[in-house]
Amino acid sequence: MGSAAEAEALLRDVWYYALPSAQLPTGTVQRHVFLGEPVLVGRDRHGLAFALRDVCPHRGVPLSCGRFDGEAIACAYHGWRFDAQGVCQEIPALTAEAVLDVSKIRVLRYPLHEQDGNLWLYMPGRSSEPLLAPPQTDLGAPRLYERMVFPCPMDQAVIGLMDPAHGPFVHRVWWWRSPGQLNEKAKDFGPIPYGFTMIRHRLQRVSWGYRLLGRHPEVEITFQLPGLRIETVFTEAHRLVNLTALTPISPTATAIHTVFYWTVPWLSPVVPLLRPFVREFLDQDRRLAVQQQQGLPFLTHPMLLDDADTQARWYLQLKGEYRRAVHENRPFVNPVPVKTLRWRS
Ligand code: FES
Ligand SMILES: [Fe+2]
Repeated sequence: MGSAAEAEALLRDVWYYALPSAQLPTGTVQRHVFLGEPVLVGRDRHGLAFALRDVCPHRGVPLSCGRFDGEAIACAYHGWRFDAQGVCQEIPALTAEAVLDVSKIRVLRYPLHEQDGNLWLYMPGRSSEPLLAPPQTDLGAPRLYERMVFPCPMDQAVIGLMDPAHGPFVHRVWWWRSPGQLNEKAKDFGPIPYGFTMIRHRLQRVSWGYRLLGRHPEVEITFQLPGLRIETVFTEAHRLVNLTALTPISPTATAIHTVFYWTVPWLSPVVPLLRPFVREFLDQDRRLAVQQQQGLPFLTHPMLLDDADTQARWYLQLKGEYRRAVHENRPFVNPVPVKTLRWRS
């Protein structure tokens, strides 16, 4: 095992959620920060999305400050032009006699993958080949997307995301469940590639939110590195998928992206009504993360206790194993067992 700092370090060699496809119009570029690195994300005039390090290799001006013509971006300072591959096309200050091969000058290009209406950015590290592919939902374009930034490290945000015991205390709202009532839960878990799943099961107690989706709802929740939770609700007639993807912005700030897909026709017209509820739900977790930041730095040994915290432990083990597998250039061995976890929530 490495040092504590290494354990807390942000995972590289993985795909992170960048932004929804719909927020990147053709012929535009925009500036983002992922894992503390400035990244220009753009879409060329042919509709192809790309990502480059947002730093001009000449003298450091962000390329996103420049002009994009749908093919290449001209830096705001001296007009050096780079194409979507990050290859320099032109240095305007050079005279015709100059012998410099400008195409040798390159900006770091990040792999960007577009799938199901989402853009995923590959954060390079040691591995030349990504071990892990971005997820697929096969449900077309997202119906509802929300993003919120939590002022906390990635690990804290991920552990919060998979914490099964905080619901009755943090999300205490009339529209989700009746207050103060804790139920015994026993759920079966097992490993999946680079993560684990709460195996698909019939819901014993059905909150009315689920009941509106149809008869006999069944639920499956998967978690995959680096911080991806996919909850699928199956009913006799329909399917609803909620993908929540966490992306570190810096060591102390994490973006939470939540994307909904569904096959329920009547849900789509009520998106404007649903959105405030989704935002409030996320904001409850965000406010809690703010509070936790006030105390956690003073706690030398935060506890992960019993079954309710087992998923958090699995996450830390998965992350450690992923890093070691990349480092040692060997296949990933999933540390998660087949297990029934019991808790009250
Ligand atoms: S700093 Fe970008 S062209 Fe000079
Ligand atoms: Fe929560």
